[in-house]
Amino acid sequence: MILILLGPPGSGKGTQARTLTQERGLPQLSTGDMLRAAMTKGTEVGLQAKDIMARGQLVSDEIVNGIVAERIDEPDVRKGFILDGYPRTLGQAAALDKMLADRRRKLDAVIELRITDEDELVRRVSGRYTCAKCGEGYHDTEKKPRKAGACDKCGSTEFKRRPDDTAEAMRTRLKAYANETAPLVDYYAKKGVLQVLDGLGEIDAVKAAIGEVLDKLA
Ligand code: AP5
Repeated sequence: MILILLGPPGSGKGTQARTLTQERGLPQLSTGDMLRAAMTKGTEVGLQAKDIMARGQLVSDEIVNGIVAERIDEPDVRKGFILDGYPRTLGQAAALDKMLADRRRKLDAVIELRITDEDELVRRVSGRYTCAKCGEGYHDTEKKPRKAGACDKCGSTEFKRRPDDTAEAMRTRLKAYANETAPLVDYYAKKGVLQVLDGLGEIDAVKAAIGEVLDKLA
């Protein structure tokens, strides 16, 4: 199955994709994570993306299409995958159509996690942090470690926050979503693959709604 999770920053794409990976064995292809990994490694792509991402702007279609095209040829995604944060522009959507057609593969569904309450998105993102060692995600109010200051999963006491999770960068990210990414809703609706879900529910409620969509498709 090939699935796209679409939604503004903070809508829960990454949270839900990680659960789908654990429970359904579908690898998560997050362009944000791939770009952050490239930055950590100090590659050319990482160096080009660093400041753009910190400001909350979009990295060029050319760079992002290139990393996705490489990733979908790896053996672990043969049975399917979840795209999290890609495509994000009409140009990327057209590039993805071509990549899939060239490989005789088909997009099964696009699930939009719809949230129009920007204050909620800012609240979610500005409280987010992760374990610096294993990447487990936490939130200042929603999900604190069971023992203060230590990761539940690996015990590490080092945590980090994303540089683009500031109020200013978040304003730019929300604008980029409205201007560049929101048109994809119509694009995929016209193709008959769009499913719109309420992203404001509890994490488990959103997970259940996604599960229903996928069970119907299976
Ligand atoms: P990326 O890493 O993709 O970030 P994003 O799309 O801005 O999304 P987020 O990761 O912030 O949010 P999310 O929807 O995954 O929510 P999450 O599950 O984490 O992109 C970062 C940057 O990389 C971009 O700005 C751009 O510069 C660049 N980039 C990436 N892809 C690109 C592309 N294709 N083209 C060009 N540039 C690209 O949840 C957020 C928080 O909310 C968490 O704390 C979570 O615990 C909590 N939460 C989740 N669900 C719920 C819920 N239902 N109720 C309560 N809390 C919840």
